[in-house]
Amino acid sequence: MVETSNLEKFYKKSIGERVQIVAQMCNLDANETSLLTSAVDPSLMNALDGMIENVIGAFPLPLGIATNFIINGKERLVTMAIEEPSVIAGASNAAKMARPRGGFDTSDVASLMIGQIQLVDVEDSNAAIEALRANQDAIIAMANEQDPILVNAGGGARRIDTFTIDTNLGVMIDVHLIVDCLDAMGANVVNTMVEKIAPMLESITGGRSLLRIVSNLAVHRVARARAIFDKELLGGNDVVGNIIEAAEFAMNDMFRATTHNKGIMNGVSAVVRATGNDTRAVEAGAHAFAAWNHPYQPLTRYHADENGDLVGEIELPVAVGTIGGATKTHPVAGLCLKIMEIESASDLSQVIAAVGLAQNFAALRALVSEGIQKGHMRLHAKNVVRMAGIPAAYHDRVIELMVDRGSVRLDVAREIFGELKQSDEGDG
Ligand code: MEV
Repeated sequence: MVETSNLEKFYKKSIGERVQIVAQMCNLDANETSLLTSAVDPSLMNALDGMIENVIGAFPLPLGIATNFIINGKERLVTMAIEEPSVIAGASNAAKMARPRGGFDTSDVASLMIGQIQLVDVEDSNAAIEALRANQDAIIAMANEQDPILVNAGGGARRIDTFTIDTNLGVMIDVHLIVDCLDAMGANVVNTMVEKIAPMLESITGGRSLLRIVSNLAVHRVARARAIFDKELLGGNDVVGNIIEAAEFAMNDMFRATTHNKGIMNGVSAVVRATGNDTRAVEAGAHAFAAWNHPYQPLTRYHADENGDLVGEIELPVAVGTIGGATKTHPVAGLCLKIMEIESASDLSQVIAAVGLAQNFAALRALVSEGIQKGHMRLHAKNVVRMAGIPAAYHDRVIELMVDRGSVRLDVAREIFGELKQSDEGDG
């Protein structure tokens, strides 16, 4: 047990000093201590130290490439950072089945974010809202004074939307400042603006401003993607019909819809993470959007077209940026944007939507056919043959037989290898 968690001036120490303190307190040996920092080179470690507080190391995640993606006619290598097996394989496989019909179609995503200002203690809410509307131009002008660079680049605050909310504590006014953030995710830009304009809203309405913060329910920043999955490649008419039925289950059952959407976010969050964007912002927005104006629903829809091929569509808010924040401070994030040939925040949002759709299709196809465990087992089996020290020439056959027997273990791998070797030698 550590003596105290009250580490005086811990934030002021260097990474090395912090590591030593933790190592001493937690009895870490030399190997454990070096594991904390050895996974990344010192210059990257330096960048990481600047990103958050009290850094003691790096937590590397696998970064992989999802293959086969064509998005709006352009071939793309998609970078994904994720710990879960089968996700990248699933997305790549799904994208392959969309290729015969041209891959994924997406449309431009406006970078419009919402900043909220909560106004309380307003005596006459109708009069207050009227006054806010009458002063919209002055409010927008003041908001835009906060970010001349954004405004010069063609972005900035666009309008205000106003709402009254009946609460147990009386009527409140909810002002939405709508800001075009261009290639930024926008939380910083928007938070600065709403904090600055809040006093002005107080004097216009006679109320008191309380919260002034971006909303992660980015309903004005919705990305859409569509793809047609070839029915022969995906397994025929029955599989098409079964996927449509599986999606209908999610449409009518929240327990299923939640897992359906979790599968979408496997792909979405992996790309968001690889680009240094905020996974929690996108996840909160996606799940809230799934329940916006209706009961919680899946973020994808499916139907069969006139050829019997499966048409899939996705719609979800994707608030990501290509400038600012960790997209710039994390060198690997910048590299991922380069590998994906991302041109703008809108472009990145479209790739993310396409990956979300691919991921969901892959999960549904597996679920209506062999289930998802077989794929997981295959990946696990890959690790097992390596750990069992089986020669590479036998890997594929041993993996296949272990998966068929439903038993992926070191002893089983060795037993199967023995059998195969004996039979090969007999043949020879
Ligand atoms: C697992 O990470 C994701 C799935 O559960 C998604 C789904 O059920 O659609 C396979």
